[in-house]
Amino acid sequence: MKTTYYGQSAIMIETEGKKLLFDPFISPNPAAGHINIHDLEPDYILVSHGHGDHVADLLAIQRDSDAKVICIAEIGAWLNKQGIDNVHAMNIGGNFNFDFGRVKMVNAVHSSTMPDGAAGGNPAGFVIYSEGKKVYYAGDTALTYDMKLLEDENLDWAFLPMGDNYTMGVDDAIKATRFINCQNIIGMHYDTFPVITINKDEAMEKFIKAGINLKLPSIGESLDL
Ligand code: NI
Ligand code: MN
Repeated sequence: MKTTYYGQSAIMIETEGKKLLFDPFISPNPAAGHINIHDLEPDYILVSHGHGDHVADLLAIQRDSDAKVICIAEIGAWLNKQGIDNVHAMNIGGNFNFDFGRVKMVNAVHSSTMPDGAAGGNPAGFVIYSEGKKVYYAGDTALTYDMKLLEDENLDWAFLPMGDNYTMGVDDAIKATRFINCQNIIGMHYDTFPVITINKDEAMEKFIKAGINLKLPSIGESLDL
């Protein structure tokens, strides 16, 4: 299993020969100017919620690739209205087995409105079960005690937001690692806008002190999970 970071909360996971793209916000991000969204060609696009910094390139990439979009029911209905039918709608707490493995949609504490003002349902996170690994993608969320529900999953990796202001900051993300019982974290949702700028050296030091492995990949960088 391999992941590539595309800035903000946009990541690709490659597993079982499939490409899963999460929360595509790439072309409006000046720091991701070297990434061409037309080269991504995902098989699936997973959408955590409707905010622009998670869906800016959703329609363009879906129309390019005809990827199946995995999202909450309200975003699925919104996509149908945009003429996109290759949608797999889920809701919080539900599991479904895809050809790459299982997806569970989990709670996130945030808000969700589509770029055109339509309601986006509840915000969500995902747990991916594939190639014998378990990976949590938190989406945009506050620290929430619901994360404790993942304690017994033996997660291998977790993608956690840590830019503060709109989501958890670094200190709450470290608390979240205890709730979810996961030692390997990839940070996201930081540095894209002035209000979510973090001190990366300080964040690394805090995670080291907490005994947790933190990766902050640069945009375009890939890691084995
Ligand atoms: Ni958001
Ligand atoms: Mn966001």
